[in-house]
Amino acid sequence: MSNIATNMQSKVQQAKDVKDEDKLYRFDGVLYPRLMCPEENLKALKDMDARADDVMLVAYPKCGFNWMVGVLRKIIAEATGASAEARMPPLIEFFGPDALKTVATAPSPRFLGTHMHPDKIPASFYAKKTKILVIFRNPKDTLVSYYHFCNNNPVLPSVKSWESFFNEFMSGEVPWGSYFDHALAWEKKMDDPNVMVVTYEDLKQNLSEGVRGISAFFGFSLSEQQRQTVTEGSSFSAMKESSQSSHGGMGNVIFRKGEVGDWKNHFTPEQSREMDEAFTKRLGGTRIGEKLNYQKHCQ
Ligand code: A3P
Repeated sequence: MSNIATNMQSKVQQAKDVKDEDKLYRFDGVLYPRLMCPEENLKALKDMDARADDVMLVAYPKCGFNWMVGVLRKIIAEATGASAEARMPPLIEFFGPDALKTVATAPSPRFLGTHMHPDKIPASFYAKKTKILVIFRNPKDTLVSYYHFCNNNPVLPSVKSWESFFNEFMSGEVPWGSYFDHALAWEKKMDDPNVMVVTYEDLKQNLSEGVRGISAFFGFSLSEQQRQTVTEGSSFSAMKESSQSSHGGMGNVIFRKGEVGDWKNHFTPEQSREMDEAFTKRLGGTRIGEKLNYQKHCQ
């Protein structure tokens, strides 16, 4: 099993002794899972030194982070000959002071990631002009995926009901904060040449093109054959199949369904309308909103 899988499994084990009401805490106004990112981890991030050649991945939870972890690890492996096997869990907020010291001496290119709000990412990533890949997903499927994740991930409090989780998501009272706040903050960086925003839905439609764009963005040149290898190894079925060794017992929880439109099996017509209104109000007329192609995927 990979280091990631072993680490996750030990946290899952510890979580069994923690009460649901103690699993989340607030830092800087945002909820976080205490076991995975305790306060000392978040405080330690303030001094983290980014490098210009870091490969940085950012995603609001359940937007396809692990998918892009698989894609980027394979791109880096093809381009540099490094192993695609995980050495470290890629989320910087899970590291803590000791792992951060190890990361500080790791060879380039380092592969790092976070679910944090763009304004809470360590400032050095922007100062060093690190290239940042952002994957976003339509809010209805993100909410559904988050709901199932909370239900099946012992480090998070289990949901009381679908209705209560819906309301928590809509008001941003979920780990890592409000989907809309994250999207609006990325909207401000849409012109930044060091930020590339891709969507889950576009990648579902044409992963091979996505792999081409993502590798070019990070300056990795892949042959057609290499691009095909990355694409084939990153399909939902391929990643789900290897998820036991990559993610241990959490594999089946993270690689759940992998589809666009599962929201139709969960949302009531009223909830669907409420999300439509919230999307129009918060993200209507924005470029990130347009990129998410809400009409096509959510109506
Ligand atoms: P579902 O719960 O809708 O199935 P994250 O990694 O950010 O937690 O996101 C998890 C979501 O991404 C899950 O969505 C998961 O199935 C989906 N996913 C993971 N790997 C994928 C892949 N290779 N192709 C498509 N979807 C993938």
